[in-house]
Amino acid sequence: MKVREILVTSALPYANGDIHLGHLVEYIQTDIWVRSMKAQGHKVTYVCADDAHGTAIMLKAEDNGVTPEQQIANVQAAHEADFAKFLINFDNYHSTHSEENREFSELIYRRLRDAGHISTRDVEQLFDPEKQLFLADRFVKGTCPECGAADQYGDNCEVCGTTYDATELKDPHSTLSNATPILKTSKHYFFDLPEFEQFLKDWTRSDNRLQTSVANKLQEWFDAGLTSWDISRDAPYFGFQIPDTPSDEPDKYFYVWLDAPVGYMASFKNLCDKRAGTDDALDFDHYWAQENEHKTEVYHFIGKDIVYFHALFWPAMLAGSELRTPTGVFAHGFLMVNGEKMSKSRGTFIKADTYAEHLHPEYLRYYFASKLSDKVEDINLDLEDFMQKVNSDLVGKVVNIASRSAGFLVKKYDGMLTEVCAEPSLLEDITKTGDEIAAAYENREFSRAMRLIMQCADKANEYIDEKKPWALAKVEGSEQEVQDVCSVAINIFRQLMVYLAPVLPELTENAREFLNIENLSFASRNEWLLGHKINKFKPLMQRIEEKDIAAMVDASKASLTQTETSITNKDSKLFEKNEPAAATDAEQTDYIGIDDFAKVEMKVAHVLACNHVEGADKLLQFTLDVGEDKPRNVFSGIRKFYEPEQLQGKKVICVTNLAPRKMKFGISEGMILSAGDPKTGLTVITLADDVKIGTTLA
Ligand code: MSP
Ligand code: ZN
Repeated sequence: MKVREILVTSALPYANGDIHLGHLVEYIQTDIWVRSMKAQGHKVTYVCADDAHGTAIMLKAEDNGVTPEQQIANVQAAHEADFAKFLINFDNYHSTHSEENREFSELIYRRLRDAGHISTRDVEQLFDPEKQLFLADRFVKGTCPECGAADQYGDNCEVCGTTYDATELKDPHSTLSNATPILKTSKHYFFDLPEFEQFLKDWTRSDNRLQTSVANKLQEWFDAGLTSWDISRDAPYFGFQIPDTPSDEPDKYFYVWLDAPVGYMASFKNLCDKRAGTDDALDFDHYWAQENEHKTEVYHFIGKDIVYFHALFWPAMLAGSELRTPTGVFAHGFLMVNGEKMSKSRGTFIKADTYAEHLHPEYLRYYFASKLSDKVEDINLDLEDFMQKVNSDLVGKVVNIASRSAGFLVKKYDGMLTEVCAEPSLLEDITKTGDEIAAAYENREFSRAMRLIMQCADKANEYIDEKKPWALAKVEGSEQEVQDVCSVAINIFRQLMVYLAPVLPELTENAREFLNIENLSFASRNEWLLGHKINKFKPLMQRIEEKDIAAMVDASKASLTQTETSITNKDSKLFEKNEPAAATDAEQTDYIGIDDFAKVEMKVAHVLACNHVEGADKLLQFTLDVGEDKPRNVFSGIRKFYEPEQLQGKKVICVTNLAPRKMKFGISEGMILSAGDPKTGLTVITLADDVKIGTTLA
């Protein structure tokens, strides 16, 4: 077998938020692929890094009251801890805010510039006069120029779908300071993407580099026409300064997406330096020099939202600076939970560490594996199905094979397996299926691999059920047969451990110790365990309990109310040209069902009394008649907008089934509805005098 030399990357997570289960689709997918290729004997190197630059991270640091350097160091430590919990086995984890990355970014930029691929041009952009910075589209809101919908972002209207330029918004305001932005001009640097059109068209369609649906998407982009890419940003910005700019020019920085993919090279270079002089030494140029493009392989695993950057800009940048281009770019779909986009309010926006506090990471690795294919399809984590599948496949089918047979062998035969296999055709069949499983892994058809593995497990269980070693053990003279059957079962179990090792590294490592074998390489399955001694069996996996899932969902609701703004749920629009998410994340537009709405009980209330609250400069205290035996006491934070006498005697709407809240000044037994507007203030919704008190609104 030819040992292939392969460099693999996953996309670099932004250093402004925690890792969540959506991210994990990608890191788990890549990790499984890497482990499976290593197990097949190839030399595979898996690198990643934090994506540490950009406005969002700068603002996040400001929010947290730390320097950007501290911000990215804290987040990187958290990211690495999360990845370790999920057994993501990077060979190196670095940062884009690193010297290696600066060097390569400058090198690539200078080569592109010297080859005539960079030009400059003045750009007029919205500028926040208070914050003193240019505003990316996500940081501007205003009224849609097309349909007049209020509160729309600077790039497109969520109401009518029109896309426009931020400068076209009516009544724009900065989401950072609320100030009205002004128009300001500055010089920008552009990478001439259209010059690479022919190269990219050829690149896209050759050598199976891209999935068909991705190649088709690129064709749409070619048809629409490529445009040059703005690679510069003005100060203040957290990133690398563009080198060699005129001395009389204000500071210019590389846009985060210029140096982000370069981070793949930087992390790899950092690893080459760490390993220099060791047996595992790696040669940087062997992987990245243009002339080695066909000697080594480079693969990028990414989400579908960042295809534009990886299949257009990145190969063009590499080709334009005479470096090798990737062998393949593999995109995956987005994660849905219970059939819907992850939702903060439903508790399905689950952070990696929240999950790990309640459930074993290998459950998720298996479930994702059972769902992933080589297609760019979204994958659904149905929590009920997750529990069923893990319990029935892993605990019920796989682990059960060992737990049913190991006991007899250890107790009665000192752990010795038979010298001769009693059921060679069955074992041969399962050994041979390994070829198909290996191919499925390599082609990223993990769901197919899991199906094949479970079919093998089914065969083993059928065999055991038919032979019934537990019954045989009671029949005198059947000693040999019991040992035969259990030995076959243990051999099949060993094959299954080899097949599952890329997905379940911890479980299979424990099984390896129990089986008393050297390793779980794919080739090792060809030598069966005959006349071999196994160790005592210890339980390998617990069943998932419904209460653990419920606790995780609950904890996700809780943890999100505390740190709502630190979480980013990316838009999952197919192949979007994605910008880094803003620090203050866009609100989640979740639909609720009619049942959810029906849970809220609202009643017409009569304000019997309204008073100031001693010592609370934001509150008003209400005594409300909602048609019950006793009036209710409600506190409302609206003192800034009303004098008590303005509301005295009015009919208002009260949410009456809100859980009572204990406050410093007493218990609040409901909530008064008002229409809020951060600019003009707030208006309590009042009703006509003749509306009957206590009427339920529907
Ligand atoms: N920093 C950029 C990538 C730069 S690569 C040179 C970025 N970061 S990210 O943190 O937003 O996302 C990291 C990866 O996780 C991306 O490939 C993205 O597609 C993936 N996912 C983020 N949320 C996801 C889901 N909800 N579902 C599946 N994958 C998701 O993009
Ligand atoms: Zn509109």
